[in-house]
Amino acid sequence: MGKLWGGRFAKQTDALVHQFNASIRFDARLYDQDISGSIAWAQGLLQIGVLTTTEAAAIVGGLETVRSEFAAQTFVFEVGDEDIHTAVERRLIELVGPVGGKLHTGRSRNDQVATDFRLWVMAACQEIQAYIGALQEALIESAQEQLNLPMPGYTHLQHAQPITWGHWILSHFWPLTRDVERFGQVYQRTAVLPLGSAAFAGSSYPLDREMLAAELGFQRISENSLDGVSDRDFAADFLYAVAMVGLHLSRLSEQLVLFSSSEFGFVRLDDAYSTGSSIMPQKKNPDTLELTRGKSGRLIGNLTGLLVTLKGLPSSYDKDLQEDKEPVFDAFDTLAVALPVMAGLVSTLVVQPAALARQLEPGLLATELADYLAKRGVPFREAHSLVGQAVRLAEMKTIPFDTLTVTDLQSISPHFGMDAAAVLQVSTALAQRNIHGGTGPEALAIQLENAKRWQSGKAEE
Ligand code: ARG
Repeated sequence: MGKLWGGRFAKQTDALVHQFNASIRFDARLYDQDISGSIAWAQGLLQIGVLTTTEAAAIVGGLETVRSEFAAQTFVFEVGDEDIHTAVERRLIELVGPVGGKLHTGRSRNDQVATDFRLWVMAACQEIQAYIGALQEALIESAQEQLNLPMPGYTHLQHAQPITWGHWILSHFWPLTRDVERFGQVYQRTAVLPLGSAAFAGSSYPLDREMLAAELGFQRISENSLDGVSDRDFAADFLYAVAMVGLHLSRLSEQLVLFSSSEFGFVRLDDAYSTGSSIMPQKKNPDTLELTRGKSGRLIGNLTGLLVTLKGLPSSYDKDLQEDKEPVFDAFDTLAVALPVMAGLVSTLVVQPAALARQLEPGLLATELADYLAKRGVPFREAHSLVGQAVRLAEMKTIPFDTLTVTDLQSISPHFGMDAAAVLQVSTALAQRNIHGGTGPEALAIQLENAKRWQSGKAEE
């Protein structure tokens, strides 16, 4: 069978041009959305009397057969199938005869593809939210198991102040709440129906677009038919939301690569989530984490690639827009593996309390001593400087900072009292930080509760 648009052409398309032009290789996965869109369209045509009840029933029945062929993977593609829209229509006409040719009345592939793609992205947003949810569960579980286990906290990757494992791991939970929310917003912006825009000027058939929207699960209809067929903001929004998840996973990965190294040894990765070396028998490599970190680059690339494709386009449909799908599919497919892998990795992670404890050196408590002085009325700037001098003195004497005697300290300032040493305790430092969001035990119990509440609130939505 010839092309669906072959009428005005005297020659066959060059074979390579056909291949260049075709999108079936990647857009076949829109079959379900395409068929749902077509069924709604057929019902719309029936409503305005373009199709008789018998014709509409034949078309809808035929489309359902095509759907089941795709689902059973028995659909046979033909060389001439350019994209999913032409493939479905070609097969429909084979199945139900010339009446199938009435389906495309008042419609264009331009509003059809925009509709299908939006439906696909809407479902993808919800699937990704579920994948993120599973990772969040794993993070909460790890936090719960070691909520108050002390560990060194870092700034500039240098020992800074003590925190706890629960506090650290929950710092990777909250960014994901923003991601889940972002996908909710992308969903809202995607749920705008372009169908009825036709090629770009609006359909000449008075279909009830509100009915079509309701039928297909859209929340609104588009206001301008040129914008309707050319708007791919939703795809860019989706890719931005994906890139942000990738970025969050990459940061978590980077830290776990570090924490699982021999030098840190803070965590042990489960064998099922690590890989070996082909030459060095002793090695256990964090490939999963490195790949996750690496793939975030490609996710950002998908976003920037699409933005560049879109930026010079006149409104209405241009074939450049066919380039919208591969980055979106790739982004989804990447997260659909990376998120479950990360969830599994986190839930099998074994924290090493002894390694954490070894790093809890007294320098982490210098701020406590400055706070001690400040609480005794010394201006904080001066306190900071006095403790700095104490650190230097300890360095000169090559002794740990917390073994300085009261005499040592008082040689620096008379404000250091007998009770100064008492503040140089990790547990004391932690207990000082029960401000909301802090690393103190009471604050952490609340934070964990709030994280769980956020999780269950989302489940109720
Ligand atoms: N395969 C095309 C796409 O993905 C469908 C729309 C084609 N429209 C057109 N006027 N050639 O964008």
